[in-house]
Amino acid sequence: MATTHLPTMLRDTAVHLVRLLGPKPMAKPTDMAGRRVIVTGASSGSIGYAAALELARWGAEVVVTCRRDPDALQQALRAELGHAGGGVAAQALDLADRDSVSAFAGWYRRRFGALHVLINNAGILHDVLALRRQVERSPDGFEVHWRINYLGTFHLTSLLLPTLIDSAAADGDARVLNVTSHQHMRGRNDRLFAEFGGHNPWDAYGQSKLALIHMTQALHRRHGGTGKFRALSVHPGSVYTNLVAGGLESYRGVRPIQWLLAAPVKAALLSPQQGAQTTLFCATDADVEGGRYYERCAVGRPSTDALDASVAERLWELSEEWLAQP
Ligand SMILES: NC(=O)c1ccc[n+]([C@@H]2O[C@H](COP(=O)([O-])OP(=O)(O)OC[C@H]3O[C@@H](n4cnc5c(N)ncnc54)[C@H](OP(=O)(O)O)[C@@H]3O)[C@@H](O)[C@H]2O)c1
Repeated sequence: MATTHLPTMLRDTAVHLVRLLGPKPMAKPTDMAGRRVIVTGASSGSIGYAAALELARWGAEVVVTCRRDPDALQQALRAELGHAGGGVAAQALDLADRDSVSAFAGWYRRRFGALHVLINNAGILHDVLALRRQVERSPDGFEVHWRINYLGTFHLTSLLLPTLIDSAAADGDARVLNVTSHQHMRGRNDRLFAEFGGHNPWDAYGQSKLALIHMTQALHRRHGGTGKFRALSVHPGSVYTNLVAGGLESYRGVRPIQWLLAAPVKAALLSPQQGAQTTLFCATDADVEGGRYYERCAVGRPSTDALDASVAERLWELSEEWLAQP
């Protein structure tokens, strides 16, 4: 990892440790009966899984996605839920694949009609130790974090937006939550419009998460005027999930000592349930402010780059051009 990031890493670690020892904000249980919610990327052990389970317990009808074996995910969630709460259904979705995104959005619209909360939670951080020397690309040629975390999310949101807007008009409250990260601070506006040149995955991840905050704000500016539609950015905190555990396991050299690393890393991070709290808060609280960046169940402050509205607009237009391509 580049040494220029060392001061930021040290500061982040100090802030994290102080927060770890202090009280952890929790979202208040809220009656979600009659609300329809999508949580993308809700595989077992993830933040999305914990958020979906809680929302279903609070009465929402929840659709979750993963890339492989949605039946097993559905069974696991239903087994935990028992007879309590709203329903849970799972469906396959690969954000890197246009056809998969279109198929999922079409399936959802045909089956459910209304949509009150779209939680764009699915995301990747590949090569957590930043050891590889080459940019990883999606099958259609994009840097992979950009393709999945940002472009795929933009595509899905565009397809479901008319349903969200209709539900906002009919029922008075619809929301899009983009699960971003504190790591968006590594992103730079001037790099958003150029081909990703480096090979540091944390930088690539940061660019994709910065783009998601821009998308939140552009979306809210376009549709938030009625007061019935809100778009929000969420940072869940530092959480022990598959992204961390699976990320370490993916290195052959680390696998034999994974058991040794797992316990201290797990102890130093939030659990998925704790990491889901800001998502739950933003999905349910009546007074959350559209367009804002939330962390620890409160409004947070994103980077200066993330607040540049002209960049958000330019990025939105370019993303629409990409979508319009055959
Ligand atoms: N963990 C943290 O400390 C942390 C901190 C800040 C932000 N976040 C963000 O929180 C969100 C949830 O992450 P997590 O920590 O819960 O990670 P996780 O356990 O790895 O879950 C990520 C989810 O995204 C799905 N996903 C991966 N690639 C996908 C693709 N191409 N199309 C559709 N879905 C895909 C995964 O599905 P499969 O299982 O099928 O791959 C999985 O369900 C992410 O956006 C992440 O960037 C996490």
